[in-house]
Amino acid sequence: MKRLFTPIITALLLLATGCSNAPTMSQEEADAYRRADKLMKKMTLREKLGQLEQFITRKGVVTGPEGVKRDIESAIRNGEVGSFLSVFNREDSHRLQKIAIEESRLGIPLIIGCDIIHGCRIIFPENLAMSCSWNIEAIEHSARIAAEESAASGIHWTFSPMCDISTDPRWSRVSEGAGEDPYLGAKIAAAMVRGYQGDDLSAPNTIAACVKHFAAYGAAQAGRDYHTVDMSELMFRDRYLPPYIAALEAGAVTVMSSFNDFMGVPASGNRWLLHTLLREELGFTGFVVSDWNAVHEMIIHGVAADGKDAAELAMKAHLNMDMVGGDYIAYGEELVKEGRISEKLIDNLCREVLAVKYRLGLFEDPYRYGSQNQNEAYYRPENMEFARKVAGESMVLLKNDGVLPLAKDTKIALIGPFADAPKDQLGAWRGKGEPERSITFRQALEERFGKQNVLYTKACECGKGVDRVVEGGIREAVKLAKQADVVLLSIGLSGWHSGESRSRAELTVPAPQQELLDALKKTGKKIVVLLSTGRAMDIRNEVEKADAVLLTWHAGTMAGPAVADIVSGDTNPSGHLTISFPYSVGQVPVHYNAKTTGRPAKDQYKASGYSSSYVDIQNAPLFPFGYGLSYTEFEYSDLQVLTPEVKLGGTVKVSVKVKNVGKRAGDDVAQLYIRDVVAETTRPVRELKSFERLTLAAGEERVVEFEVPTSDLAYCHSDMSFKADAGDFIVWAGADSNATLQGEFKIVE
Ligand code: NOJ
Repeated sequence: MKRLFTPIITALLLLATGCSNAPTMSQEEADAYRRADKLMKKMTLREKLGQLEQFITRKGVVTGPEGVKRDIESAIRNGEVGSFLSVFNREDSHRLQKIAIEESRLGIPLIIGCDIIHGCRIIFPENLAMSCSWNIEAIEHSARIAAEESAASGIHWTFSPMCDISTDPRWSRVSEGAGEDPYLGAKIAAAMVRGYQGDDLSAPNTIAACVKHFAAYGAAQAGRDYHTVDMSELMFRDRYLPPYIAALEAGAVTVMSSFNDFMGVPASGNRWLLHTLLREELGFTGFVVSDWNAVHEMIIHGVAADGKDAAELAMKAHLNMDMVGGDYIAYGEELVKEGRISEKLIDNLCREVLAVKYRLGLFEDPYRYGSQNQNEAYYRPENMEFARKVAGESMVLLKNDGVLPLAKDTKIALIGPFADAPKDQLGAWRGKGEPERSITFRQALEERFGKQNVLYTKACECGKGVDRVVEGGIREAVKLAKQADVVLLSIGLSGWHSGESRSRAELTVPAPQQELLDALKKTGKKIVVLLSTGRAMDIRNEVEKADAVLLTWHAGTMAGPAVADIVSGDTNPSGHLTISFPYSVGQVPVHYNAKTTGRPAKDQYKASGYSSSYVDIQNAPLFPFGYGLSYTEFEYSDLQVLTPEVKLGGTVKVSVKVKNVGKRAGDDVAQLYIRDVVAETTRPVRELKSFERLTLAAGEERVVEFEVPTSDLAYCHSDMSFKADAGDFIVWAGADSNATLQGEFKIVE
């Protein structure tokens, strides 16, 4: 939130809304509220309820039950709908808006929301992939470009950023988040909000952000989408809440309630989450939209008897807008008539929606989004170039025995289902992305190495409902491999396997593709696996058999050129994992910042000696958080704690020397981890508390200085207070979460 205090206005609003704690509000926001109040004096109860309804048109992307079929246009004319989702083009956006403005009694503009998650026209790497760049400015810029392209498409509002921390790669929506770490997740969430909303929400090239899915949706039991979430409040506050808070503090004006229950109550009817925590404690003053049909689904959750009951629960929980379900407009008037809901509560819910519409400038000019020249906004060359750069920075080199980079005249056998798969490379939630604008690995490699030097066959198919070796595919693949110097094998999971409702119990590469790898291995050719995925996987088999493994993710429109840049050595890989790659699915959740136990894991597996270890496999993941190789080598030395004793409220300073000891320039991500040695509640074995992406020329050395305010060492105590304590701390610095260079410092009162 913009922290410009307007105490009198805020106090008046509080009296009106009945909140006990003061939210902070900017002058501009307070004005929007005043205007909303004025407008509401003219509105009927039904019109107010209409503002709380979000509908989908027939063309919209359907991700759940649609509920009642509606006559959309009559609903707009009657003032019975305030918002649409999934309207992806300005013609439809303006057509619907025109009905609202010209044919409804009060001419209140609609707010149009869409899932623009990692790009609108130009698709950037999936969010998990982009987080591996650790490039916060680049992530912010990607959101900026997405906002410009969205605004030009008549979209006012994106359902992003997804701030859900998740440590479970069985859950397919890990692809939409920033990985397992709350510190990095918070930085990324805030950057995305800044990117979407800019400095001025009413500017015609910025759009409203939506913090989702509130809350803890990423902790679904067993990685099954929409499943129960049950965790302690302490765990929630420590690990899951920070990215949501960061996004709110960056000024996000909307929040989406999650599908899951939380402490036994579905989020959409959870007053503690949506009111006590979100409004009273965190000071949120925008509006909350439910997830798809999530209000109505409280019946299936078993906490509401019928739609009316569900609407009552959600309204009382302080959920403003019902996505798709239709229960607010169906039962709102009856609920008021029967005294179950006060009109004052409806006023409050409506005011918060209208205020965001005012802030977006929709009352001044309802068509301002989409009035731009789309040809100028879409696919700008500098943005395409940026997409290529960020795709390259997102890719993570996991293994390289020296086969990469490839010499200019290398003859390549390019094999696999994702080597020439323009749609798959766009991943989940492709916005307005157009596969025909994707540049595939095949196209880019042919351009880089010469068409005659790239022998291509797909060999396998993998995607929705298909997972097989194509007729004669392995024979052809082996034939091409034998004619080539090296095999680039593009395998893994398809774009369809990412995103909502694609949970998997197995994390290995599908069997037909493993069969392909085995056949190619027998040729004796060097094999570089290009791993396509939107989640962490168990890739033991591929790591063992391949000579190099490059994690290419679903890297978006410019995935091909980015891969060509890396395999040719024009770009030195620099991505670092933001989610641990498990050794086995049986370890999941496996993450670097696990809590310590009274009997910590022993490195030596099979001889567990009554420690917190498996007796059949190692405890460590295959690749830890923070891990990533380069074509050069970085050496970390001389960790110095510059502030061995820091006062609470002060700043801890630590430096480390990083030297590029290889022969080519490269980027690395220097990471700082801290452990609170004795705390009031159990703490993680280590936690990321700072990082810096740096570029070093061959032979160059730099001293990186990390600064950690002691407030960043705050944690949740047993009384739920969130504060830092005095005491002893250990600090490590290095290039991944196994960093061994160590120091100590003390915080004193
Ligand atoms: C359901 C998804 O959970 C949510 O992330 C998305 O924004 C909505 N559907 C709207 O499409």
